[in-house]
Amino acid sequence: MTIDLLPDDVVPRLRAAGCVFAEDEAEILIESADGDAGRLERLVTGRVDGLPLEHLVGWVGFAGRRWAVGTGVFVPRQRTELLVTEAVGIAPQEGPLVVVDLCCGSGAVGGAVAADLAAAGREVTLHAVDVDPVAVAVARRNLAGLTAAPGLTAAPGRITATASAGDLDAPLPRTLRDQVDLLLCNAPYVPTAAIAFLPPEARDHEPLFTLDGGSDGLDVLRRVIDVAPGWLRPGGHLLFEVGDAQVEAALAHAAAAGLTARVVEDEEAGALGVVATRP
Ligand SMILES: C[S@@+](CC[C@H](N)C(=O)[O-])C[C@H]1O[C@@H](n2cnc3c(N)ncnc32)[C@H](O)[C@@H]1O
Repeated sequence: MTIDLLPDDVVPRLRAAGCVFAEDEAEILIESADGDAGRLERLVTGRVDGLPLEHLVGWVGFAGRRWAVGTGVFVPRQRTELLVTEAVGIAPQEGPLVVVDLCCGSGAVGGAVAADLAAAGREVTLHAVDVDPVAVAVARRNLAGLTAAPGLTAAPGRITATASAGDLDAPLPRTLRDQVDLLLCNAPYVPTAAIAFLPPEARDHEPLFTLDGGSDGLDVLRRVIDVAPGWLRPGGHLLFEVGDAQVEAALAHAAAAGLTARVVEDEEAGALGVVATRP
């Protein structure tokens, strides 16, 4: 059966279930159903039951590209595009680039940075790491797609990418010490007590270890800041996302680790980040 119009009841059903962007979601679900009425019904029912849209359709739009996501894997947030824009903007202007994405999840953050740099003609080596093998499998898929993307292979730049499972920087090859130009890390940073107030899509469908950053939310980020100077080349940058209440502590911790840190912000997107540079 072909569906060429919005079935009349999709938008009202989504709206009744509390979906704020019901029209946009309906379009995505209908595209994903690809004319299969039974599949459309399953997708709408899943969404009405509170499953994340991106887990249902298997992809998310992030930084101008589509990235695979799946059940149990953190869905990249639009606000994190701030890290991508900043990283691309401060990348050294010459030579091949080494990019690391710790806590990579689906690999979209590091992948987007590598893709944008390669599209601008740069040669990029990307190492992505996540503690969760399920996320790493998705990241491998995304990064494989990237290295094979026709739009990028046609460009003068080139991407070499790997995704590894392990704790923070443990899987990184020692040869990368003092060599990293951009160290990206969108870590779990929600304070434990705030998890209960997250939207149900996150609270109920993204694993706790993807969200929970400990009592002040900075447990993982403090560890990342501590190891960053050993991987960054002089002049290299660590970029991470934080919440309002965490900025001061994060800046202080970066300074104590010998990094020169500044805050970056995209007010419209509600995004806040820190760029910490090795002198
Ligand atoms: C907030 S999610 C962000 C994922 C991805 N960076 C993004 O923005 O879409 C945090 C990720 O950190 C991973 N993670 C948590 N603790 C970790 C650790 N000790 N080492 C590596 N990854 C970790 C989780 O599995 C999860 O994928």
